[in-house]
Amino acid sequence: MRVLASRRLPGPAWDELDDVELLDGPLVEPRPDVEALAVVAETIDDRWLDLLPNLRIVANYGVGYDGIDVEACARRGVAVTNTPGVLDAATADLAFGLLLAARRRIVEGDRYVRDGRWGRDWAEAALLGDEVSGATLGIVGLGRIGSAVARRARAFDMRVLYTRRGPGEDEGYRPLDDLLAEAEVVSLHVPLTDETHGLIDARRLGLMRDGACLVNTARGAIVHEEALVRELVSGRLRAGLDVFAHEPSVPRELLDLPNVVLTPHVGSGTGATREAMTRVLVDNLLAARDGRELPNRV
Ligand code: 8YV
Repeated sequence: MRVLASRRLPGPAWDELDDVELLDGPLVEPRPDVEALAVVAETIDDRWLDLLPNLRIVANYGVGYDGIDVEACARRGVAVTNTPGVLDAATADLAFGLLLAARRRIVEGDRYVRDGRWGRDWAEAALLGDEVSGATLGIVGLGRIGSAVARRARAFDMRVLYTRRGPGEDEGYRPLDDLLAEAEVVSLHVPLTDETHGLIDARRLGLMRDGACLVNTARGAIVHEEALVRELVSGRLRAGLDVFAHEPSVPRELLDLPNVVLTPHVGSGTGATREAMTRVLVDNLLAARDGRELPNRV
């Protein structure tokens, strides 16, 4: 089974694929020989599928598969798989890191030291942060990653509120608007779908408490980015952002703001997690090759 891959993926599992071709540049010619695609955040739509008449599987390197037109694939009998589970801890760790960095102004403190200001000003007053321990955290989307964030939050004695798709009517459950109005930190963990596109819009951002912090390690387009920029420029909110609406571009206004911490979409970015993701992706490709049931069909 010939696999066309947009990148060589890290880790030993990759070498178990016996017929891989790395794509250099966009696909322009029809490729009837290709039966599988391994993709990293590329947009896979009818344009690709038209050029790949014998495609059987699109294996996505990542849990979020919003870049793939799953319906177009389904119409053509092409399976789509992702890599859930193995990246929950790494992504939750980064969400928590952004939360800590934003609330305790760690990046500002780092700059303060590097700029030689320490000693000239009274650092303790210049860099007063917000408490993490005991604060109220609102988790939007208590799925696998959201739950991993909740476990970390409990170790920090935080009060955890959440929204979720399925039933969840216990004491922490809140409708989204109530959660936004109550939480001091809001962390997003829903997939990007038609329903969640722009979910956190200007009205909902306006519900957040003064000084509250928004953490996004999910997808940029879940938030109305221009509305968020306005709230951050005004200084009313803080944020820790790993994802953006039009990656790799980041709104220019954010670059000089002290109240936002920025990272370049690295939620799953540890060596071990990336290798584990390769293992899962390769397992799906091998199952497709051998005609077995796909472990992570979406
Ligand atoms: C990226 C991710 O896919 O899993 C996801 O949904 O966003 C990430 O794991 C990965 O970093 C490759 O770009």
